[in-house]
Amino acid sequence: MPRSSLTAEVREAVETDVAAIARICSTSYRDAYRDLLPEGYIERSVVAFYSEPRIARDVAPSPPEWFGYQVVEEDGRLLGAAGGGMSGPASGELSLIYLDSAERGRGLGTLLLERVTGQIRAAGGTEMWVSVFLGDRAGIGFYRARGFEPIETVRATLSRTDDHISALRMRRFLP
Ligand SMILES: CC(C)(COP(=O)(O)OP(=O)(O)OC[C@H]1O[C@@H](n2cnc3c(N)ncnc32)[C@H](O)[C@@H]1OP(=O)(O)O)[C@@H](O)C(=O)NCCC(=O)NCCS
Repeated sequence: MPRSSLTAEVREAVETDVAAIARICSTSYRDAYRDLLPEGYIERSVVAFYSEPRIARDVAPSPPEWFGYQVVEEDGRLLGAAGGGMSGPASGELSLIYLDSAERGRGLGTLLLERVTGQIRAAGGTEMWVSVFLGDRAGIGFYRARGFEPIETVRATLSRTDDHISALRMRRFLP
C-alpha cells in the first residue's frame, strides 16, 4: 500500500533547494515524456527550464506573475516541486508540478497543487489554468481528477514548426 502524504510538508523553496529541484524536475520530465515527445524537444526544454542556473534565477517569488518555487519535503528529503502565478487580474496559472517518480500516487501532487491554488486564490484568482501535453494521459488524468476541464489546444512552448507539439489548456474555477 502506498504511504500516505500525512508526514509530508509543503513550503516555499530557498536557495539551498536549487540542486534538488533541478534534479527532480529534469528526471521527472524525462521520465514522464520519454514515450510521448521527441528526445530533442525534451532536452531543449530541460535545459531551458530545469537547469540549475535557470532554477536559481526562478527560485524566489516575483509576485503577482510568479509566486516562487514551492517544494514538498519529507524526513528532510525533497520529493517534488511546483510553481505558479497570476496571468491576469482574476486568472492564475500553474506553471509546473513534478514529483520524484517513486513518490507518485500518494497525494503529494495534490498537496503541491493545493498550495499553488491557495496562492492564486489569495491574489484574487477566481480561475486557474494549466497546460498539459496533448496525449499525456497521466497529467490529464490528474488534472481531471482535481476538477480541471479541457478548453483548447495550442502549440506547446518551445515547439518549433518542424515538431508540431501541442498542449491542452485546462481550466478550473476556484470557489
Ligand atoms: C502528475 C503528478 C504531479 C500527480 O501527482 P501525484 O502525487 O502522483 O497525484 P495524487 O496522488 O495527488 O493524485 C491525485 C488524483 O489524480 C489522479 N491521478 C494521479 N495520477 C494519475 C494518472 N496517471 N492517471 C489518472 N489519474 C491520475 C489520482 O487518481 C487522484 O485522484 P483521486 O484522489 O480522485 O483518486 C505526478 O504524478 C507527476 O509528477 N507526474 C509526472 C510529471 C507530470 O505529469 N506533471 C504534470 C504535467 S504538467
